[in-house]
Amino acid sequence: MSDILTHTEAGVMTITFNRLDKKNSITAAMYATMADALQQAGADAAVRVVLFQGHETIFSAGNDIADFLNNPPAGDGSPVFRFLHGIATFPKPVIAAVSGPAVGIGTTMLFHCDLVYAGDNAAFSMPFVNLGLCPEAASSLLVPQMMGYHRAAEALLMGEPFMAEAALEVGLVNRIVPPTEVNALAQAQARKLAAKPVTALVETKRLMKKGQAAQVAQQMTEEGASFGRMLREPAAREAFGAFMEKRKPDFTKV
Ligand code: COA
Repeated sequence: MSDILTHTEAGVMTITFNRLDKKNSITAAMYATMADALQQAGADAAVRVVLFQGHETIFSAGNDIADFLNNPPAGDGSPVFRFLHGIATFPKPVIAAVSGPAVGIGTTMLFHCDLVYAGDNAAFSMPFVNLGLCPEAASSLLVPQMMGYHRAAEALLMGEPFMAEAALEVGLVNRIVPPTEVNALAQAQARKLAAKPVTALVETKRLMKKGQAAQVAQQMTEEGASFGRMLREPAAREAFGAFMEKRKPDFTKV
């Protein structure tokens, strides 16, 4: 079965992370599938809302570390950047249903969703520094904006998980329910939106987002250049090597 499932019904395209044995970590091939799905969803009048979901035990462990080492993203055309650009500029509503860990891009992609529903087991983390990397998906702009600088610094410099209640408090999450109910709630909300006039949804979203669309694009480009460079540097090599070897990283020499 595919690592990304897409299914369209009642005006809702549901995109499901389906790689449980690797904690729904995301490979370049999976980014390409999601980027293509978003492009298709944007163009298809039968799709009025997109919903991302994972499993009740895990949303996503973020980038697949081994795949990232073997296929580092190279430039704006690479699958991860196509996906990020696609979700950041997607004109119709995007909803996420998050249970369990949402690591790295599993969290940063949520800043580009319009509604986020979370299980009470949701744990959000952006451990880029711990991997010798910098933020992506314009999170270095959007996280401080949403959370305030000090909470953002804690999330992005310490890289420790914050739970669903904290995410609700800062406005990253709309509602918390038991993990077994998250996907159903998000689907019901998506169908409610899909029954509304799509022109009004699209125009309302455009008006809310237009003030900083250019800044988001610029931040993503700058982050992408740094991220790509840092991936090849000793700190990331050590962090990724340690993950693969299931040991603690040693940053004393980098
Ligand atoms: N990339 C590649 N493989 C990953 C992965 C990732 N991001 N996250 C988990 N996996 C793999 C593990 O290597 C393991 O594979 P194995 O069974 O072949 O050994 C399998 O998924 C299960 O992971 P495990 O760590 O045992 O699960 P857990 O339930 O104890 O912990 C997480 C879940 C998500 C908390 C933990 O896996 C984790 O922290 N992953 C790394 C997250 C990360 O740093 N992402 C990169 C962000 S840029």
